[in-house]
Amino acid sequence: MHPPAGAVSMSKVKFFSGENVPLEMHKVRIVQKLTLPPIERRLAAIQEAGNNTFLLKNRDIYLDMLTDSGVNAMSDKQLGAMMEADDSYAGSETFSKLQDKIRDIFGMEYFLPVHQGRAAENIVSKVFVRPGTVVPMNYHFTTSKAHIVLNGGTVEEILIDEGLAVTSTHPFKGNIDLDKLQALINTHGADTIAYVRLETGTNLIGGQPHSLQNLREVSTLCRAHGILVVFDASLLADNLYFIKTREAACKDMSLREITREISGLVDVIYFSARKLGCARGGGIITNSEDAYLKMRELVTLYEGFLTYGGMSIREIEALTVGLEETMDEDMVSQGPQFIGYMVEELSRKGVPVITPAGGLGCHLDAMRFLDHLPQTEYPAGALASALYLVSGVRGMERGSVSEQRDAEGNETYSNMELLRLAVPRRVFTLSQLKYAVDRISWLYENRALVGGLRFIEEPKILRFFFGKLAPTTDWQSALVAKFRADFGDSL
Ligand code: F0G
Repeated sequence: MHPPAGAVSMSKVKFFSGENVPLEMHKVRIVQKLTLPPIERRLAAIQEAGNNTFLLKNRDIYLDMLTDSGVNAMSDKQLGAMMEADDSYAGSETFSKLQDKIRDIFGMEYFLPVHQGRAAENIVSKVFVRPGTVVPMNYHFTTSKAHIVLNGGTVEEILIDEGLAVTSTHPFKGNIDLDKLQALINTHGADTIAYVRLETGTNLIGGQPHSLQNLREVSTLCRAHGILVVFDASLLADNLYFIKTREAACKDMSLREITREISGLVDVIYFSARKLGCARGGGIITNSEDAYLKMRELVTLYEGFLTYGGMSIREIEALTVGLEETMDEDMVSQGPQFIGYMVEELSRKGVPVITPAGGLGCHLDAMRFLDHLPQTEYPAGALASALYLVSGVRGMERGSVSEQRDAEGNETYSNMELLRLAVPRRVFTLSQLKYAVDRISWLYENRALVGGLRFIEEPKILRFFFGKLAPTTDWQSALVAKFRADFGDSL
């Protein structure tokens, strides 16, 4: 897989060998011991977890690629800042520092702190979504959709068609299709549209970016009709990297300039600081006093006083530094470059992955990886279970298990069946990624042994968190036997 046409590299170091190596611009000074239990223990562990990787215990995991949320490495400067936190219920100096940093980076006046991204979604949905309203968006995220639906709204996905093409060379698969947006405005009328939501670094289609140009066009159309634009900035770091490296017109802009332009085009920004800023928490940012005042009441009701919003004051210090570090090209490059490396290695071995490489993680295409399994047997869930079994690598199912049934109780099958292997920022080494690639390739060779799953416990809301599944046949024992035959007593 080659980078999309016109892509520029942010890497400042060329290798004599010509090899494309994502070189780390940081050193590791604090480490955490890992263990890799033998495959027999992994079999017991995945069975105890009901084949749901959310229910595995960390002690049974070698590489935790479940998510990049709240598990990014923090810098020495972030940790140092946490020692100076000014803790007080109201009027904390620490909060003022964060507010100043937000104003400096985003150029917007008002900031509301919340305890994590979905808390921001709760508040934004409660204020702007009314029963019967429609929220067009490039693509949904699980929690964002759940809050909109809970408030009586409907989600309309208006991603460009190419966004759902698993293999593609389109550099901006997260773009909104302007014609689809115009058609929705014509059908529903601008008043029925609560807001347009643009998710940067679009999570569920493989961390795929949108272009700055697309946001400009979306903003122009929305402003012409008086429609609010809400920007989910949780994955902004990755999207900034792709705007800078793939959008020719932006290659000379600094990350700060790109960020400032983005905030000038939208009305409300919200984010999960578990991703953006490598801390834990979240926030809502706006220039509209009216929107701020409406949301402010709900922050004090659901989150906490306005100078902490449910966040620990130490995390607020870390977030302030983390946001500034997000304006550093070395920092935002590391994740996408490691992911690009993994995608390239797997593609070379013929393993079906989402292309082009996005942010957040490497995404295996379970629909093609396990093309002998029907969607009724949850191929992405089966792949998550099988990969953990053969490697101790924990990924996250992002397919039909992550959907929920419709009002009549029928399954709603996902457009894509993906196994997401998140690459938290600055956490893993290249040899660990090579190990993951090695075991994935082995599993691909032996894919015919992998069977399906069926629910044995199925919660009604967000079932992927606590649901339990069982294998449809005894395929897992067959996989263990083949592993032992090929790898002997290796872990
Ligand atoms: N928006 C996006 C785009 C997200 O990816 C997430 C979380 C949220 C909102 C909610 O934020 O977790 O802080 O409440 N994504 C995590 C993930 C859970 O694993 O992709 P949160």
